[in-house]
Amino acid sequence: MRHLGENRGKGRTAPRIRFPNPHGRSVTISANTEHDALAALDARRSVPARQLDPPGPDDAQLLRMLRSAVRVPDHGKRVPFRFVRIEGDARDALGERLVARTLARDPEAAPAALDKDRKRFSHAPLVIVVVAVLDADDTAIPEVERLLTAGCVCFALLQAAQAMGFGASWLTGWPAFDEAVLDVLGLGAQERIAGFIHIGTPRIEAPERERPDPASLLTDWRAP
Ligand SMILES: Cc1cc2nc3c(=O)[nH]c(=O)nc-3n(C[C@H](O)[C@H](O)[C@H](O)COP(=O)(O)O)c2cc1C
Repeated sequence: MRHLGENRGKGRTAPRIRFPNPHGRSVTISANTEHDALAALDARRSVPARQLDPPGPDDAQLLRMLRSAVRVPDHGKRVPFRFVRIEGDARDALGERLVARTLARDPEAAPAALDKDRKRFSHAPLVIVVVAVLDADDTAIPEVERLLTAGCVCFALLQAAQAMGFGASWLTGWPAFDEAVLDVLGLGAQERIAGFIHIGTPRIEAPERERPDPASLLTDWRAP
């Protein structure tokens, strides 16, 4: 796939990319994007965290993918999200905190469950926590819309990681909903986890799964 370079300034110097459409028209976009956009969308799939090896993205690569990930629809331009990076030793340290939390909740927890928690963040070389920042005093934009924006960030980050040749998975699990874990991760009272995005180099080509048939999901609305 051809990479068409950087989108600088207000877009005037960015590459002009033509996307022909079936109606014989075309859309021309100044953007830092891949030419074969639909192919990239259609090729997206998750790579299980256990199949993600080093190397992960370096600082520049991570910032590059985050630059794409923040280009989400955002009602009211609230920027209702932020990122927390977990890599290196921090992954194992978080695993130990999860084990402690599980034992605090259930001293009889099975060793297999503890082992799963210990390794939960240590498979992929990099985990980006996408934090939804939800100001309760913001009554103008419904909270669900701000949460959807944070979800879009997760998806866009998956896309960007794959476009840059990495594999990625959007996971949550109990740690995403546990108050003590949110505290350990430094989240505030008005913050929630939209997703843990595990990123690395795929060890295998992830198997495709059956996808929904869009035609079966589409109906026409007519005035009743
Ligand atoms: C919000 C959210 C949370 C998810 N959490 C998990 C999870 O904790 N464990 C898991 O196995 N899959 C989870 N998934 C599903 C995977 O991200 C992925 O979509 C699934 O493995 C199917 O792969 P695909 O993305 O190629 O369709 C989650 C998906 C979403 C949208």
